[in-house]
Amino acid sequence: MKSIAITSGKGGVGKSNVAVNLGLKLAQQGKRVLLFDADLGLANIDILFGFVAKHNVADVLNGKFHLRDIMVEAADGMKVLPSTSGLLQLENPSQSELAKLAEQMDEVSEDFDVLLLDTGAGLRSTALFFCSAAEEVLVVTTPEPTAITDAYAMIKVLNTDYDVHEIKLLINEAIDDREARQVFDKLAKVSKKHIDFDLDYAGMVVKDIQLEKAVRKRKPVVQSYPSAPSSQSFQRLAEKFDSIYTNKSQPLINGFWKEVLQGRKDDVEEAEVIDKAS
Ligand SMILES: Nc1ncnc2c1ncn2[C@@H]1O[C@H](COP(=O)(O)OP(=O)(O)OP(=O)(O)O)[C@@H](O)[C@H]1O
Ligand SMILES: [Mg+2]
Repeated sequence: MKSIAITSGKGGVGKSNVAVNLGLKLAQQGKRVLLFDADLGLANIDILFGFVAKHNVADVLNGKFHLRDIMVEAADGMKVLPSTSGLLQLENPSQSELAKLAEQMDEVSEDFDVLLLDTGAGLRSTALFFCSAAEEVLVVTTPEPTAITDAYAMIKVLNTDYDVHEIKLLINEAIDDREARQVFDKLAKVSKKHIDFDLDYAGMVVKDIQLEKAVRKRKPVVQSYPSAPSSQSFQRLAEKFDSIYTNKSQPLINGFWKEVLQGRKDDVEEAEVIDKAS
């Protein structure tokens, strides 16, 4: 199973839409996809699909269910691990709770080819944990300067404080390929210069009013408007997926367990106060 954490510095840049629509396209290609709504206290995936989950991650943490039993089949065979909103327990899970999730995730990993983790935005401990647990991290940004600055802050913390070495950048809401490439070049240059890090390019998704309409309809754009410009972007991303994400694969949890057992959470507070502009 290939595990990819989808994250961003700034919120609202399109992570959940990327997770859902890329996941669906990969599922349509025949991949066994599991999408984990890993923005635990502020879940969104159920809203984007318009389903109401009977059970969610909170029931797993409370010991009522195994992760396997809360999975929902969203569409095209793609399975979703739903979370829920407004529970403080989920907003700040303890190390043992994270460890429990990690362990059960490992137990279901054989049933899937791809695990997409839709994490929360910013330098929050849970998002950073999931990013360091996954094999690769996909950082999403838009071409807005504030989003770019925050994306760099995230890349810097992931690489320098969390030892994450595989980070790809996806530019969402770009006007065209040229603009997306310019944003990538800018961030790649800054990352090389200041932290000697080689950022990879994942691709782009165009700014598309039909995606906004799809969100309001609570039906992902690749399903609502399969030929919309953004649906075509997701199709292209899914087509290049195998060449971008090579097939080397490790269990999700190795890295995760190490972090949990080393009590890495203590470092998070320090990470949170790092000056994002530096
Ligand atoms: N390609 C796009 N074209 C047009 N609008 C978009 C696009 N991508 C995202 N949006 C708009 O941005 C909104 C936020 O997207 P989304 O919920 O996927 O972001 P997010 O990064 O997951 O947010 P959060 O940080 O709150 O989890 C969408 O509801 C939609 O209106
Ligand atoms: Mg989201």
